[in-house]
Amino acid sequence: MCAAPHDPQPDDAKSTSRDRFSRFAAGYVTSATHAQGHDLDRLLALSEAQPTWIALDIATGGGHTALKLAPHVRRVIATDYALPMLDAARAFIDAQGLENVRYAPADAENLPFAANRFDLVTCRIAAHHFPDAYRFVCESARVLKPGGRLIVQDHLLPDDAQAAKYIEAFERLRDPSHHQAFADYEWRGMCLDAGLIVDHSEPLRRAAKMIPWAERQGCSPAVIERLHILMVQAPEAVAAWMNIQCAGTADAGFDHVYTLIMGRKPA
Ligand SMILES: C[S@@+](CC[C@H](N)C(=O)[O-])C[C@H]1O[C@@H](n2cnc3c(N)ncnc32)[C@H](O)[C@@H]1O
Repeated sequence: MCAAPHDPQPDDAKSTSRDRFSRFAAGYVTSATHAQGHDLDRLLALSEAQPTWIALDIATGGGHTALKLAPHVRRVIATDYALPMLDAARAFIDAQGLENVRYAPADAENLPFAANRFDLVTCRIAAHHFPDAYRFVCESARVLKPGGRLIVQDHLLPDDAQAAKYIEAFERLRDPSHHQAFADYEWRGMCLDAGLIVDHSEPLRRAAKMIPWAERQGCSPAVIERLHILMVQAPEAVAAWMNIQCAGTADAGFDHVYTLIMGRKPA
């Protein structure tokens, strides 16, 4: 069961992560990982968005999910806890000529909205930064109208706990603001505990080259070397899950594995 919302004061980890996002705001608007991809089309199809709907996009970043949804719904409220990120999203979406997007600062774990307000809540490639992802799921469930849908896309871990830990270490080495990702059974559990019915979940894969992926986060050559070592030494279960290729070479690559999961608030 979801408890009452937290004290709205951000903790130190959250402030550090918000400062980091604020510094990199422009990069998220132009990032190909965030701007394009089959996953955005899948998210939109799964939502079955309707022209009468009001949607909430949590942790909107550069605004790519809000932009994708906007032509299909009455209004999108794009939220993020980093103000420079919201400004960047607004400038980007305004430049596309869309007028039905509104912007509001909001912490995913303490949403400043009344209950039963939204037909659709989305959150793409962000929940692994939240210190309390379950609190975010509860808050999403609270603000959804009965019958409304929560769609989360985020890093997906394997069920094998040891392999999952290894992959988490790899991700955190590259990005210290990576807090925690989850396996499918954990996402399902959080949705069910928050009172949502899980209608759908699917894994998505996207191939990436390790060096440019690490350099985008400003990783030093020493960190890149350690990422190489983790790839070379990856246990079989990790190598298979991540589809590690050409480990230890300049062409080293792997798959990002995401979940696309949808929970529905009972009508
Ligand atoms: C990778 S970006 C999101 C990408 C975006 N959703 C998209 O579809 O392109 C991650 C975002 O999460 C935001 N964020 C991280 N923790 C948050 C929190 N607790 N509440 C609200 N936003 C948060 C960051 O400021 C950042 O803008």
